[in-house]
Amino acid sequence: MQTLAFANNDQMPILGLGTWKSAPGEVGTAVKEAIRIGYRHIDCAAIYGNEAEIGAALKDLFAAGVVRREELWITSKLWNNAHAQPQVTEALRGTLDDLQLEYLDLFLVHWPVAFRSGVVFAAKPDEFLSLGKVPLRETWAGMEDCVHERLTRHIGVSNFKPDHLEEICQTAEITPEMNQVELHPFLQQPELLEYCRKKNIHLTAYSPLGSGDRPDVLKKAEEPSLLKNDIVGAIARRKSCSPGQVLIRFAIERGTAVIPKSTNPARLAENLKAADIQLSKEDMAELGSLEAGFRYVDGSFFTPVGSPYTLEFLWG
Ligand code: A2P
Repeated sequence: MQTLAFANNDQMPILGLGTWKSAPGEVGTAVKEAIRIGYRHIDCAAIYGNEAEIGAALKDLFAAGVVRREELWITSKLWNNAHAQPQVTEALRGTLDDLQLEYLDLFLVHWPVAFRSGVVFAAKPDEFLSLGKVPLRETWAGMEDCVHERLTRHIGVSNFKPDHLEEICQTAEITPEMNQVELHPFLQQPELLEYCRKKNIHLTAYSPLGSGDRPDVLKKAEEPSLLKNDIVGAIARRKSCSPGQVLIRFAIERGTAVIPKSTNPARLAENLKAADIQLSKEDMAELGSLEAGFRYVDGSFFTPVGSPYTLEFLWG
């Protein structure tokens, strides 16, 4: 499989398995099946609430000799309630305990948003911490501590816009190597791609299929469907592949990593095969015409009345 090369020549498989929304009781089986059929990159996060089950699955796979630790690329993310510098290594140690691993390949700051310590999901204004209280550069210093302590090989961010990246780069000793953001034909973010390319920051596309299994509270009344889109469907018919495969290949053609989520064995296999599909310039142009500035994960859950965070701060 194609890889993204990091500065030290570590190679991240361009297609990984997403695990957000993979339910307890299902995620372990899905990870085992994925690795059995050839996935080598698993995208995790503490807030997904399923890292312990993933860890148990990995332990079984290693014990059975299906795969070795060094053949896998494992990513996880720092949750918003552990942004103070000393909390960062502590949070990563918790994730490593859950995953039963000695190190991660990549650790990301999940959002440029901070909560008070102990708050799982801030709902009231006083449960948030403003970035004045815990600046992103302080969180980033904690991420660098994780590298120095060899708890992770690489560090990066998620849901960061160029302003947020600039802020941490001013004092960074290790520059971020990855920004994981929502990317698909309805939200192509060309300026962010250009910015990250210039700065040698890789991108990973999350919600590449439109994340249709999000809880209803995270959905808008009328959402466009990527998987049911006519242009995506027409390209899929022409290529004798599925709409999901077209969407996954779209991300790879743009030079970004991509992490479709599935817990279904047939779709896990289908998604992995997308790495081998070819899309022509014309196909890419047709998909490019679908740009709509539409976010499935718009961050509005961080902006209740009185929150120090706004949509303008996140994306504007
Ligand atoms: P399932 O887990 O039952 O396969 P995203 O990666 O954008 O978050 O999207 C995940 C959603 O897309 C899940 O509901 C997942 O369901 C579904 N899905 C995953 N792969 C495919 C596919 N190839 N075709 C259609 N739906 C898919």
